Amino acid sequence: MPTALSILELSKSYETKTKDRMDAIGSITFDVNEGEFVSVVGPSGCGKTTLLKIIAGLLEPSKGAISFFGVSQNNAMKNIGIVFQSPLLMPWRNALENVLLPIELLHKDKTKYLERAHDLIKLVGLAGFEEAFPQELSGGMQHRVAIARALMHDPDILLMDEPLAALDEITREQMEIDLLRVWEDTKKTILLVTHNIAEAVLMSNKVVILSSRPAIVKKELYINLHGKRGLETRGDQTYVAYCQEVRHSLAL
Ligand SMILES: Nc1ncnc2c1ncn2[C@@H]1O[C@H](COP(=O)(O)OP(=O)(O)OP(=O)(O)O)[C@@H](O)[C@H]1O
Ligand SMILES: [Mg+2]
Repeated sequence: MPTALSILELSKSYETKTKDRMDAIGSITFDVNEGEFVSVVGPSGCGKTTLLKIIAGLLEPSKGAISFFGVSQNNAMKNIGIVFQSPLLMPWRNALENVLLPIELLHKDKTKYLERAHDLIKLVGLAGFEEAFPQELSGGMQHRVAIARALMHDPDILLMDEPLAALDEITREQMEIDLLRVWEDTKKTILLVTHNIAEAVLMSNKVVILSSRPAIVKKELYINLHGKRGLETRGDQTYVAYCQEVRHSLAL
């Protein structure tokens, strides 16, 4: 599998109000292969959102390099879809119009993408809600719209920053299964940032474990679960052992 995303010795320090530097990311190096689902786990405030913003080109790194398919980061917009922690839908647009937003931002002809928008809405389980406005949708449904929107311009890589963290546990577990299905159906390369260990292990080929701030990579753990991942996976002994291993690494 070719390398879809390569992060090399990335570091970031912010300038604070008092003009001091605040190190958010120490040094992070890891690769994500094409078609892989990789999760990055780390304690709150360790620099996960900072990392995702740098990968998306929304923030400059202090040092280090990012490359996509061997080419250094440029015009990331067309390569990347992003799902943030809050769905960030436009309240005056219905679900379909929200999903079509990236097409408008890229100045493409919307009518040519209507069918794809409908397909994506179906893929995330929202068929029949195309005309609904965000305030008429539950939190979980709004996140589904945000996921469909992030896939609209057919990005090579989907970046997700704790997209399910605000959801109740029942909805979250269902969304995890649905996201796995989206991954299987689209074969996208996915990088998910989360502080939920169970979620990271359930969904990923690889879990990258970060230290507390300034983040460094403590461990890369490959997850080999036999069979199809689903609701039953949580009871699987191998799965439970992986979760323990991640917990252990985080605590070290
Ligand atoms: N724009 C900014 N200016 C200064 N400091 C910042 C800025 N953004 C984030 N930070 C600091 O950088 C550190 C890392 O923040 P970041 O949001 O990347 O953490 P995180 O791992 O995503 O946390 P969480 O799990 O709570 O979302 C924090 O200490 C935060 O206060
Ligand atoms: Mg964050």
